[in-house]
Order: sequence, then structure tokens, then C-alpha cells
Amino acid sequence: KVKACLFDLDGVIVDTAKYHYIAWKELANNMGFDFTLEDNERLKGVSRMTSLDILLSIGNIEKSEEEKLALATLKNEKYLSYILKMGPEEILPGTRDFLELLKKEGIKIALGSASKNAMTILERLELTPYFEAIIDGTKVSKAKPDPEVFLKGAEALGVAPMDCVVFEDAEAGVDAALAGGMKCVGIGKEDVLGKAHLVVEGLHKMDMQKLS
Ligand code: BG6
Ligand code: MG
Repeated sequence: KVKACLFDLDGVIVDTAKYHYIAWKELANNMGFDFTLEDNERLKGVSRMTSLDILLSIGNIEKSEEEKLALATLKNEKYLSYILKMGPEEILPGTRDFLELLKKEGIKIALGSASKNAMTILERLELTPYFEAIIDGTKVSKAKPDPEVFLKGAEALGVAPMDCVVFEDAEAGVDAALAGGMKCVGIGKEDVLGKAHLVVEGLHKMDMQKLS
């Protein structure tokens, strides 16, 4: 029986990829190269510093650690300027209803995100009260596909991994859930997330019956 649901944030609850994209693109353009939407796909689920490394490799640019920190900070300032304008209208379809349903059924809810901006985003969306535990990029040392983020979430909820379901839109996130011994629902396309136990287009298409 499912006792807890652990949610990735970006791409599952809200589409922040478009804001990450604008911010990374601006940074790339300022350094003299282009950054496409296709390139942006490679950054999904990936930490901020690893994303920057991928971006720099696309532009064939080398930077010192100090310069990288400055660039990552600059990118995050741009990203935050968009994030801080978000509101509950940007919550992806079906999310709030699904969280309400879980609450009603007594299923525990946690967040498992690579983002260091997760708290800010949940606040902007007015969703914070649903989450009994929030494990984000400030609380983990190993990035997905390592299961740390989800195992910490399960532990905080006091639920065994085998009784948890993870909702993920990135392949690395699906791998992390499976490595943690959890069930996983992929949010997106079957060809990318096929390893998950179930793949749905979005939370508006989710039906817990399909998991048992
Ligand atoms: C993940 C996103 O959730 O968080 C990635 O899918 C992002 O694209 C990562 O790079 C880190 O986010 P932040 O907000 O800490 O820069
Ligand atoms: Mg994601």
C-alpha cells in the first residue's frame, strides 16, 4: 500500500524549465554563443553547477572555479527575477487536486528537488502547507540519479522506501527513485521515462488505481 508520495518540483509541479532556459541563454549569449531549447533539455534534473559545466562545454569555454561561481550566481539572479513574479496560476494542471486527494486519503507528502530555490518556488505557488518534508538542493550532497534526496524524504516522513511513490519528469530522477527502492511515476514522455512503473502526461492524468 502507498503510504507516501514524493514529488520532484521543476517539471512536475511547475514548468520552471522555461525560466531556467531564458536565464542560461542570456548568460550564453553574453559569452558569445547560442543556447538552444534542445540544449536546455540536457539540464533537466541536473544541479546548478553541473548545468553550468554543460553550458560552458557547449560554448567550448573554460573558466576558473571562481569565475564559475560568479557566473552561477549571475544566472540565479536572472532566474530569481522571473521566479519571484510567479503565482499559483502557474501550478501545473491537476496538481492541487491531486495533493488534496492524497491529504484526504492520509498519504504523506514530501518534496525531493535538486533546486536550491525550491522553498521560494513553493511559497510563490502557495503550496508549502501540503508538504510535510522538503528535501531540496540545500540539503543533499549527492545529485540524482543518487537516491539520497528521496531516501532523506522517506526518512523524514517515517515511511519505508517500498511504500513510497516518486513523481519525476527527468530520467535521472526516475533512476534515483528506482535506486532507492521506490515506485516511480514518470511525468512526461514514455520514450524518456520508460523505466518508471507508470508514465502519465501530467498529474491531471494521474490515477492511484493504476499503481496497484
Ligand atoms: C532541477 C532542475 O530541479 O533543479 C534543473 O530540473 C536545475 O534544471 C536544478 O538546474 C537546480 O536548480 P537551482 O534552482 O538550484 O538552480
Ligand atoms: Mg524535474
